[in-house]
Amino acid sequence: MAAPAMVALDAVLGEKIANPPMTGQAPALISIQKVSKTFLAVSGARIEALQQVSLEIPEGKFISLLGPSGCGKSTLLRIVAGLERATAGAVRIGGSEVTGPNAGVGMVFQRAVLFPWWTVLENVLLATRIQSLDARLMRSRAQELISLMGLGGFENSYPRELSGGMQQRAAIARALLHDPSVLLMDEPFGALDAMTRERMDVELQSLWEARRKTVIFVTHSIPEAVFLADRVVVFSQRPATIAGIVDVDLPRPRTIGMLDSAQLGDYTRACRELLGSASSSL
Ligand SMILES: Nc1ncnc2c1ncn2[C@@H]1O[C@H](COP(=O)(O)OP(=O)(O)OP(=O)(O)O)[C@@H](O)[C@H]1O
Ligand SMILES: [Mg+2]
Repeated sequence: MAAPAMVALDAVLGEKIANPPMTGQAPALISIQKVSKTFLAVSGARIEALQQVSLEIPEGKFISLLGPSGCGKSTLLRIVAGLERATAGAVRIGGSEVTGPNAGVGMVFQRAVLFPWWTVLENVLLATRIQSLDARLMRSRAQELISLMGLGGFENSYPRELSGGMQQRAAIARALLHDPSVLLMDEPFGALDAMTRERMDVELQSLWEARRKTVIFVTHSIPEAVFLADRVVVFSQRPATIAGIVDVDLPRPRTIGMLDSAQLGDYTRACRELLGSASSSL
C-alpha cells in the first residue's frame, strides 16, 4: 500500500499531515480499522473501493471527507452506517462493532429523499415508524427540530412545495429526530446553488455548535470541507487510501466572512495540493 502523500504542507501550514492524533481529545467514538471493500460488479469484475482505511474520530468532532469522484467516500459512509459490510477490517462506534444499521447513527443523503406523499412533519417523524419511540415526545421533538432548521410554518407542507434547500433542511431534521450521537452526511448540499449552500453551511455549523454531534461530512467543495471541519481527510483515487489529513484550527463559531479569509485560503490550498497529488498518483 502506498504511503500517504506528503506534500509541502509543512511549508503551507507548519504542520505534519501523516495521520496526526487529535491531541488532548476524548478517545475515539468512531474507530475505523483497516477497512477494505471489494465489490463484485454485475459483469463479474472485482472493484476495489477501499483499501485498509483507518481513521479514529473523537466524540464531538467534525470530520470532512474529500476525494476524487468514485474513490469510495459513499462506500465508507455506508459501512459506518451499517448499510454495507466491509470485506475486511472493522468499524466500531462507542466500542461496539458495526454489524448493521444503528439507532445511534443518523444519515443525510445527497438528495433529500423525502417521501412526496408525506408532509414535512410526517417525513421528519419517519424514525418513529421504524423504531419504537415515544410518539408524543417525538412529535414535540420534531416540531422543535423543524423550527431549529427554519421550517416553522411548513410542518404541513409537502416536499414539492419546498425549495431544494428547505427539503435538505427537512432531511437533516429527520436524521436528528432520534438524537443520534453520530451524523453521516453524504454531499448533502451538492445540489444547491452557491448562495443557498453557503447559508446551509453556516446553519449546519451553528447546529453543530449547539448539538456537538460527531459528524463525517462528504463533499466535493474544498472551502466547504475546511469551513465546517476540525479535520479534513483527503482520500486517494480508488481504491481509496488516506492521501493526507489537514487539521483546521480556525476559531469557532465560524462566520460566513471566514469563507473569504486568507487563513481559510491557506487550508484550502493545502487540501487542494493533497487532492492534486492523490489524483496524479494513478
Ligand atoms: N453496489 C456496488 N456494486 C458495484 N460497485 C460499486 C457499488 N457501489 C459502489 N461501487 C463502486 O465503488 C467505487 C466507489 O463508489 P462510491 O460511491 O463509494 O464513490 P464516491 O467516492 O462516493 O464517488 P462520488 O464522489 O462520485 O459520489 C466506484 O467505482 C463504484 O462504481
Ligand atoms: Mg458518493
